[in-house]
Amino acid sequence: MNTILIGAQWGDEGKGKIIDVLTEEQDAVIRSQGGNNAGHTINIGKKKYVLHLLPTGLLRPGRLGIIGNGCVIDPISLTEEIAGLEKQGVKLNKRLHLSLQAHLVLPYHRYLDGLREDQAKGKRKIGTTRRGIGPTYGDKISRIGLRVCDMADLNHFEKKLLAGFREVNSSLKKQGYKPLTSKPLIKDCLKAAKKLQPYLSDTVTLIHDLRVKKKKLLFEGAQGTFLDIDFGTYPYVTSSNTTAGGACTGTGLPPMAVDRVIGAMKAYTTRVGEGPFPTENNELGDLLHGMGREFGATTGRARRCGWLDAVMTRYACRLSGFTDLALTNLDGLDHLEEIKICVAYRLDGKKLHVPPADSADLARLEPIYETFPGWKKDTSSCRKYAELPLKARRYLKRITELTETPIRLISIGPKREETILL
Ligand code: GDP
Ligand code: IMO
Ligand code: MG
Repeated sequence: MNTILIGAQWGDEGKGKIIDVLTEEQDAVIRSQGGNNAGHTINIGKKKYVLHLLPTGLLRPGRLGIIGNGCVIDPISLTEEIAGLEKQGVKLNKRLHLSLQAHLVLPYHRYLDGLREDQAKGKRKIGTTRRGIGPTYGDKISRIGLRVCDMADLNHFEKKLLAGFREVNSSLKKQGYKPLTSKPLIKDCLKAAKKLQPYLSDTVTLIHDLRVKKKKLLFEGAQGTFLDIDFGTYPYVTSSNTTAGGACTGTGLPPMAVDRVIGAMKAYTTRVGEGPFPTENNELGDLLHGMGREFGATTGRARRCGWLDAVMTRYACRLSGFTDLALTNLDGLDHLEEIKICVAYRLDGKKLHVPPADSADLARLEPIYETFPGWKKDTSSCRKYAELPLKARRYLKRITELTETPIRLISIGPKREETILL
């Protein structure tokens, strides 16, 4: 059984929490795209974990964690993340596998990401996580990147690093910027590579063998549908395919082997970074921030908040073919008088039912809303669908109608037990 879980909005939908709940029944959790730009929060008992690149499944004893070829791996930050997790009492032993074909995020990628952001003015700023994601995928597509397999032989790796730094420094100098002091940075990379060598793996064969043994595999999406490099709000996107197809190209899972695709969505919408957000609502943002919610797990930035946008979620369902939806943070709406859902857009007098391709159009269109009365009751103690207030159930029913996809999991709090399975 192979399940893909995808963020249906702009990331931070609560994927980490859902994956942790689902992993009870899984044998391996596999990341297929993105890097440590992700921040997946998992609360287990009194402990809180924030995972950036390590697959969430590693928090459950005995489960494998695989980082597929479609991911970008920052070796220095990954060794820190592993050390941090071990410090929290999670033993990796032989459970972590890194694809030999995944690309490496090197210190110069991080530097260039920050430099581009600092230099970008006004609309050109993307608000990236500054983790070097864009420059690394850029090198991959330009066919000049370094990969995990390059770390297998440290002498060879050092030579490749020297060449990489030389090229970046020469280009920095040409543009009038100070070159990077490569020596200590290369030393850090070599040190990290040595630590990571035990995890290098032929993950395609590993995944194939697990499938032959009928193991249950869960493909953990990072970011969300509207950050997808092709289908997102370009250029305010990340640099990978965050939709379901990315789980196949990013791991070697054959498309015909996919059994289930779950779309994770919040009961409202959030976005971090720049870019259009038709249903953005500052009052809702103030309310959620006032409750101590909606601060980024990776950068700590306050997330922009707004109403649920059913035009976008329906489009997300089409793109990834969600078989079910997992809806989180329903409890975030518990105390509102009125709740809105955007059901269509109006642009230049025309009604739209799909998001326009041009981000400039998305930024200027007008959302058309349906308004629902709030239930004004605490939902976090509900454990069955029937225990949810009637008005909350009506809200959920409308979401199913609008997205044409059944909701099979409802989350009403960050903890494992704060979950309703349908
Ligand atoms: P991810 O990137 O999709 O894994 O999501 P993040 O971890 O970045 O952000 C989701 C936040 O919402 C985290 O702080 C979670 O602990 C929290 N969370 C997830 N589901 C729920 C829920 O149903 N209710 C509440 N109150 N918090 C939730
Ligand atoms: P998870 O997996 C929310 C956003 C950044 C920025 C844009 C590009 O936790 O849902 P990048 O560093 O990727 O080049 O930044 O994408 N972004 C995310 N937003 N959740 C994420 O991951 C994100 N990863 C990147 O804020 O707008
Ligand atoms: Mg997150």
